Order: sequence, then structure tokens, then C-alpha cells
Amino acid sequence: MAKKIKVMTVFGTRPEAIKMAPVVLELKKHPESIIPVVAVTAQHREMLDQVLHLFQIKPDYDLNIMAAGQTLFDITTKAMHGLDKVLTVEKPDLVLVHGDTTTTFAGALASYYHQVPVGHVEAGLRTYNKYSPFPEEMNRQLTGRIADLHFAPTDTSEKNLLQEHIPADQIFVTGNTVIDALHHTVQDSFDFEDETLQGVDFTGKRIILVTTHRRENLGEPMRHVYKALRQLTEEFDDVEVVFPVHKNPKVREVVNEELGGLEKVHLIDPLDYEPFANLMHRAHLILTDSGGVQEEAPALGKPVLVLRDTTERPEAVEAGTVKLIGTNRERVYEEARRLLVDDAEYHRMAESVNPYGDGHAAERILQAILYRYGLTEEKPDRFTAE
Ligand code: UD1
Ligand code: UDP
Repeated sequence: MAKKIKVMTVFGTRPEAIKMAPVVLELKKHPESIIPVVAVTAQHREMLDQVLHLFQIKPDYDLNIMAAGQTLFDITTKAMHGLDKVLTVEKPDLVLVHGDTTTTFAGALASYYHQVPVGHVEAGLRTYNKYSPFPEEMNRQLTGRIADLHFAPTDTSEKNLLQEHIPADQIFVTGNTVIDALHHTVQDSFDFEDETLQGVDFTGKRIILVTTHRRENLGEPMRHVYKALRQLTEEFDDVEVVFPVHKNPKVREVVNEELGGLEKVHLIDPLDYEPFANLMHRAHLILTDSGGVQEEAPALGKPVLVLRDTTERPEAVEAGTVKLIGTNRERVYEEARRLLVDDAEYHRMAESVNPYGDGHAAERILQAILYRYGLTEEKPDRFTAE
């Protein structure tokens, strides 16, 4: 009988689930070579379940660790203890983790303690500033030290890994799986189930889509951003804000204080991935501190103002569709205003670019795993940006 390998995916938050889903689905397509196991920490609960439901993924293990007001210590220790048990029972040949969350790092460390090889999906993104984003930059670097297989989305991320002396034959340039996920979801005609969104005039108004959640932006930085948004909606008659507010109570409190009850600001719950992607497609401009949104919006030709001082995703900044603006109130107001009054500048930024992927990243990851484990002689092709 041909050899089979057991591949366990570990993830816990919304963005990891969105970006790991195409990999989980791809692993399942190859029962002749792969025994897939899915373990979720559920560092996020509702926001994770939304994604599991959309992609119809039923985890084999659900550690259900989320607690209101959880600290980094809570997440790390609960995930480590839970994964220890799962790894003891399953003894996988390979564990796949994704990106930069505390689940990612705990997944890599727990696997290392069990001497199980680790594959890092979305490897090699760096700011080289260990407190920005916090703790994601260090989660990435530490996971990179532990990993045995590195699925770098772009040439830039591969270069970072090579600079850190990761052996070249451990790195595969695959594109980002988020573009695979996006290809499944955006449609030209789409009906929103959310009642608030049904009432939004996407053709008559210019919609600014906003998301904020980064730990380093909690409190005053977020308050600055919201004040700038308020000022913009007061100044421009045809501008409205749609803001799916992250479940973190520390985010919600400040949002409600600054933007609650305003007629032109639509505060809604986090959306399922499908309506969110379609909302991006219909927005005029996006303001965000999200990582994933910085990768998706350029593919949809939407200008993005990033509410951070650093980014580990420089490709779209270089292409000119994403701009780093931080969280200073005047700066946020000025940068957004410029795009609302200067058509030439807006259209320059609204170029559609695809530096992050072509929709085939999960296939390349699967192929790389089969190749590395001697189950095929064919190496995956390398992702090259348009
Ligand atoms: C986490 C990740 C961050 C990632 C983000 C994606 C870490 C340290 N942070 O940050 O890298 O960019 O997810 O969104 O790994 N909550 C709910 N329901 C949910 C999700 C969250 O109620 O479905 C609330 C809980 O009160 C929780 C709080 O949000 O305690 C914060 O969640 P946490 O995972 O600690 O941090 P995020 O800011 O979501
Ligand atoms: N997203 C979503 N619903 C929302 C807001 C965002 O599905 O209401 C998706 C978004 O398209 C992207 C991912 O969530 O794929 C980004 O997650 P988040 O901003 O929470 O985390 P980050 O990418 O910053 O780690």
C-alpha cells in the first residue's frame, strides 16, 4: 500500500481560518496520500465559527479556549495544554500553522516539543520591529525559527527567510491562500442579508469601509481615527461609513462612544467572510489596521489607508494601492479627504493589483508537501506576481 501522511492543521482566529480553509479543503481532496486532521484552539469563538460554517469545515478537535478579556498568557497556556493532548493522541507527521497569531506560535511550539515537523503557511512576512505589530511580529519570527517547511507568499517574504539563513530548499513561494479564498466569494450581484446593509445606498453614496482591532491601536489611537471619520461624514454629504465592529469589548466601547447613534455611520457586527468580501467590492475606500484586508483590497482595486505605522506587507504599498498613515487624527482626516476630493489621486490608487496571489496557493502547498514527503517527484511551480 502507498505511504500516507497525517497532516494536522491548527488554527484559532478568523483570519487564520479564512486563509487555512483553502488548504484544509485541498488536503481533503487527496485521501490516497493524506490523512487530514483539523484542530482549532477557538482563540476566537463566533468569528471562527462563521468561517468554519462558510467553508463547511468540521474540526476533529475544538479546544474552545476563548474567554472574554483573555490575555496573551491565557491564550498561550491554554492552547499549549490543549494541543499537547491532541498531539499525544494523533501523532501527526506534519503540523500546519498559519500566519502570526498566538495560536500560530503555540501550535508551532507544542509541535516542536513533540518533535513533530511544522509547516508555516504565510511565512516570512516581517516588519523587524518586535513591538509592531504586537505580538504578531514575534509570533512570526519565532514560528519561522521552529518551522521545517516555509510557504512564503511572495518573493519579498522568501527573501526575508533567506536573509535569516533558512535553507532555500525548505522554502516554497506559493502566493497567499487569502486570494484562493477571495476567488470563492466575490460576485458582481450579491444580496446582503444584514438589514443595515440592505438600507445602504452603494451607488448614490461613497462608502468608507472601516475595520480596527490591533492591540497597539486599542484606546486613544482608535479614538483618534473615529474622530477623524466623524469629521469626514460631517463634511461630505455623499460620504457614509460602514463599520463591522470586531467582537473585542475594548474596541466596541470606544466605537460606541465616538460613533454610536450617528446617522451616516453604520455600525454592524462582524460579517461572514462572503458578505464582507462583497462589501469590500462595493466600498469606495477602505480604512483598516487589518493584515488580511491589505492583501484582499488591492486585488479588488480598492484604495486602502492603513491605520498603522508599519506593515509586513510592503508589496501593495510599493504598487501604490495601499498607504500607511498611522492613527493621528489630522493625518487620517487629511489622507482620507485627499482621496475624496482628488479624483486623479483616487484613480491612481484604485488600480487593481495582485502582488499576493493568483488563487492557486493551496494547490502549491499541497504539492510541496507531497514532494517533500516523497509522494511525488513533481515540485510545485513558483508563484510569480502579475
Ligand atoms: C487576534 C490575534 C491577531 C489577529 C486578530 C484577528 C493574537 C494575540 N491576536 O486578535 O493577531 O489579527 O485576532 O481578528 O493572537 N472576541 C469575541 N468573539 C470572537 C472573537 C473575539 O468575543 O469571536 C473577543 C473576546 O472578548 C476576546 C477579545 O475579543 O477576549 C480579543 O480576542 P483576541 O484573540 O485575544 O485578540 P484579537 O484582537 O481578536
Ligand atoms: N473579515 C470578515 N468579516 C469582517 C471583517 C473582516 O470576514 O467583518 C475578514 C477579512 O476579509 C480578512 C480577515 O477577516 O480576510 C481579516 O481579519 P482581521 O482583520 O480580523 O485579522 P488580520 O488579518 O489583521 O490578522
